[in-house]
Amino acid sequence: MAACGEPGRPWQEEEAAAVVVVGSCMTDLVSLTSRLPKTGETIHGHEFFIGFGGKGANQCVQAARLGAKAAIVCKVGNDSFGNDYIENLKQNHISTEFTYQTRDAATGTASIIVNNEVKTLFNPAPAMADLDPQFYTLSSIFCCNESEAEILTGHAVSDPTTAGKAAMILLERGCQVVVITLGASGCVILSQAEPVPKHIPTEAVKAVDTTGAGDSFVGALAFYLAYYPNLSLEEMLKRSNFIAAVSVQATGTQSSYPYKKDLPLALF
Ligand SMILES: Nc1ncnc2c1ncn2[C@@H]1O[C@H](COP(=O)(O)OP(=O)(O)OP(=O)(O)O)[C@@H](O)[C@H]1O
Ligand SMILES: *[C@@H]1O[C@H](CO)[C@@H](O)[C@H](O)[C@H]1NC(C)=O
Ligand SMILES: *[C@@H]1O[C@H](CO)[C@@H](O)[C@H](O)[C@H]1NC(C)=O
Ligand SMILES: *[C@@H]1O[C@H](CO)[C@@H](O)[C@H](O)[C@H]1NC(C)=O
Repeated sequence: MAACGEPGRPWQEEEAAAVVVVGSCMTDLVSLTSRLPKTGETIHGHEFFIGFGGKGANQCVQAARLGAKAAIVCKVGNDSFGNDYIENLKQNHISTEFTYQTRDAATGTASIIVNNEVKTLFNPAPAMADLDPQFYTLSSIFCCNESEAEILTGHAVSDPTTAGKAAMILLERGCQVVVITLGASGCVILSQAEPVPKHIPTEAVKAVDTTGAGDSFVGALAFYLAYYPNLSLEEMLKRSNFIAAVSVQATGTQSSYPYKKDLPLALF
């Protein structure tokens, strides 16, 4: 991503995007049931809805709602779900110039890191223990949650202290900056420049639905990196904590992501 332009006004697709997300667009088919069916069993559900998900698209939607000129590089199916998803991206003022439709089924998460002058934020989800080591060295910021940090390092992560230890391991693998999110405890940051783990706590809120909190956080961080590059990373993380905390106070994933107009002016 590269900083440019003023956030907050509708933008023309021929302008460069300031936040580019390479990641998945998924249609969530959600059935609410009293329990999980056993193999081969049919049970009654009491509610059904279709939602827009996929970690890449979630992050992009959050950045766009904060006012970023955002684009997503992804592939959806050439079917009604794919058509609806593209419409959802357009409604969120996200450029679909690099959104493709394929006859094959919707693809899963794909992350590509390009080692050029732009700042890159890598979110290793879903985490694999044998992640290609280049992913550690090529991204400007490596951001993951507790369970991802645990899978990647093989060490249990449950609080700021253990997160700091895991971050240390990831830093040794070549990361420039490591951020580990800790749910209601905020996040921990560690960087080559300041190799002492720092806990960035957040205000406790009453969580209604934490689904997608991590993507809201990553999307907000991408927004600050692109539009407020002069803020200290610590300040960006405090603000991203705040925005993600707003998202856990409403149900749904993208439906819970706040718009700039709903947030305190002090965040912008
Ligand atoms: N209960 C909470 N109160 C305040 N902030 C929260 C709460 N839960 C999450 N957050 C905010 O959201 C950020 C991301 O949460 P978390 O670490 O749970 O990510 P995640 O596990 O990737 O989320 P999920 O998988 O549920 O989408 C936290 O760093 C914090 O800023
Ligand atoms: C998508 O489907 C439409 C008709 O359903 C067809 O005209 C079009 O060529 C298809 N595009 C791709 C990329 O498969
Ligand atoms: C971390 O994110 C993954 C998605 O990549 C999710 O499956 C997992 O539940 C999250 N962990 C926590 C502790 O929320
Ligand atoms: C950011 O800092 C640089 C160097 O200190 C300065 O030239 C620039 O005007 C600042 N940009 C903003 C948006 O404040």
